[in-house]
Amino acid sequence: MLRSTPVTTKLPVIDLERAAPEVGSPADADRDALLAGLRAPRAWIAPKFFYDALGSTLFDAITELDEYYLTRTERAILRAREREIAAASGCDGGTLIDLGAGNGEKAASLFAALRPREYVAVDISVDYMHHSLEVLQRRFPGIVMTDIGADIARPLVLPAHIGRTRRLFFYPGSSIGNFVPDQAQRFLAGLGAHVDDTGALLIGVDLVKDAATLQAAYDDPLGVTAAFNLNVLRRVNRIIGSDFVLADWRHVAFFDAAHSRIEMHLEARRAVCVRWASGERRFAAGERIHTENSYKYPLEAFAALLGRAGLEQHACWTDERQWFAVVLARRSGARRRSDCGEPTPDDGGAADQKR
Ligand SMILES: C[S@@+](CC[C@H](N)C(=O)[O-])C[C@H]1O[C@@H](n2cnc3c(N)ncnc32)[C@H](O)[C@@H]1O
Repeated sequence: MLRSTPVTTKLPVIDLERAAPEVGSPADADRDALLAGLRAPRAWIAPKFFYDALGSTLFDAITELDEYYLTRTERAILRAREREIAAASGCDGGTLIDLGAGNGEKAASLFAALRPREYVAVDISVDYMHHSLEVLQRRFPGIVMTDIGADIARPLVLPAHIGRTRRLFFYPGSSIGNFVPDQAQRFLAGLGAHVDDTGALLIGVDLVKDAATLQAAYDDPLGVTAAFNLNVLRRVNRIIGSDFVLADWRHVAFFDAAHSRIEMHLEARRAVCVRWASGERRFAAGERIHTENSYKYPLEAFAALLGRAGLEQHACWTDERQWFAVVLARRSGARRRSDCGEPTPDDGGAADQKR
């Protein structure tokens, strides 16, 4: 848990979003992407726009839901396997780079085992991450901490002072599932370029399972995921000055077995016209805006994806039900060969037995 004592630590915030406005700034690119998505015949909004301070807080609330097995299961695997993960990653005294770090709690749960010299949090939700890291820095004063505000879907630029050897990229939460597989392959290949033979990637992957379990995780009866999804329209209103009325929209989530992915949408409750300074878009009643994909992989398919990205699976750990996997990958040909561990006995599954 994060402590609620007043924060006095001052960390440098390296905000690449704000620091590199030259050739069409990221802010312009975001506006262009939103407008292109809203004008498309099948409207879409990229999931990165979920995450302002409220979106990050709503995501944290989602992780507390009974239906949202992902966080609990991944945490249990990390807890049960921390020593093996530390031994296999060889990050001792190195640099732990947490992509889409959020509150940084999953990485922090590994600090004792991994013993990194340096922790680098990268997230698009800059203020939320910065506050979280200030709290973490007070809890772990011996670790050098840096936060970087950046869109990880763009080429990653790490400051020169970040250690170059024994880098462990940590990408938990099954966020890799937000990319369509071709994008995921390019993203993973891009990460591979940031590690040498002493470096590795530790990635959380949500595995294929029954549709009812998947669907419940993304459409909870309390409506927290619905609020998280709808919040994106507030964000869009702020960025492009549009006049979306949240009450006109409802949350829709379903498992598309053909693509092995959860899709989230916002569906117009009635015919609406949304306006912004340079245009408008009419939506018929029932028309949808696609807001997120979350791909679910069979283990073998994820290993194959790593291979196409020039990486190889070095080890993987799953829960007893094989609902979630934590995969350690290295650049192809680096050091030891692939090895898949036994499922974690019980821990990850016990809390979720009711489904
Ligand atoms: C599903 S949450 C996972 C949070 C945390 N790592 C965990 O596993 O609980 C996704 C995180 O990635 C961040 N994020 C989403 N899209 C991003 C992007 N394109 N660039 C950087 N961060 C992003 C969000 O702000 C959020 O903190």
